[in-house]
Amino acid sequence: MLVAASQGASPFVSGARVAEELGVSRAAVWKAVQGLQEDGICIASERARGYRLAGVYDELDAAGVRSFLPPSLADRVHLDVKRSTGSTNTDAKAAAENGAGPYSCVIAAEQVEGRGRRGRPFYSLGDTGVYLSIVLRPTVAVAQSGLITGAAAVAVCRAIESLRPDCGAQIKWVNDVYIDGRKVSGILTEASVDLESGGFSYAVVGIGVNVYEPEGGFPEAISRRAGAVLHEKRTDFRNRLAAGIISAFIELYEHDPFEAFVPEYQERSFLTGRCVEIKGGAHDGERAVVRGVSDDLGLMVSLPDDTFDTLRTGEVSIVVREDGQ
Ligand code: BTN
Repeated sequence: MLVAASQGASPFVSGARVAEELGVSRAAVWKAVQGLQEDGICIASERARGYRLAGVYDELDAAGVRSFLPPSLADRVHLDVKRSTGSTNTDAKAAAENGAGPYSCVIAAEQVEGRGRRGRPFYSLGDTGVYLSIVLRPTVAVAQSGLITGAAAVAVCRAIESLRPDCGAQIKWVNDVYIDGRKVSGILTEASVDLESGGFSYAVVGIGVNVYEPEGGFPEAISRRAGAVLHEKRTDFRNRLAAGIISAFIELYEHDPFEAFVPEYQERSFLTGRCVEIKGGAHDGERAVVRGVSDDLGLMVSLPDDTFDTLRTGEVSIVVREDGQ
């Protein structure tokens, strides 16, 4: 790869060396460089020194993602990386229907029809994110599908923190990842159930991360709560993040017992202690104070009549008090 893995200006690499490493002619290297420059990638060239990346380069590509996966996963993960697609979940579901094996991943830098929970759109335009869907062939009971999404949320937090230590990634029930009080990631798990066995035929875990803020900011409808992981571009951040999420998720998913990640999910709870409004279910429209997350990932709340309940479906929104807290 011509791309330097570190941040900042990369060193010059001679055309002869690139040609030799790739087993192509120097003319072919020059042509490829021209093509990349036409695509807007800043590559400086100097006659006596060769080529170097002049700007920050952060494009998703399969070789880049693969280079950051641990060697133990190299043969187990299949990667299909696109610059733009409709929805990686739709693509991954089609792949699963066509027989794609576990850990087949569809990854895109942009989605034009990104889908969120409850039939909502998920803003994914502008080549600023990592949109990633992983095909699974779960052997766990269908009732445990919530745990799969929960494990994905913890994996996203771990992967982000490995690249931005101390950012304090938190999980807002059900499965949104928050940094500094803003949603930087959402997760949508979709599954197909085999009616005969009652088990999964496949599941697709779809993870969307806002890595950068889009040019001109987030659309007004989400601008009050959406945030980005980084404020400045970093070289190869998105390839590292995609690889980090995949490997962290597989580690949690294959752990025995599977639910071992739950205490970490509970510790990362963004809502604990906060006042929320419940949307959907028996307490629709009621206000409650969040007491924590249960071992099966329900939201434990205390209600105004001093009773307690654990929410297992629906959503909550944070109530902003008059003092802004
Ligand atoms: C939500 O916050 O409501 C869930 C958002 C899930 C978005 C991800 S991005 C990758 C995958 N493809 C989609 O169309 N949706 C999921």
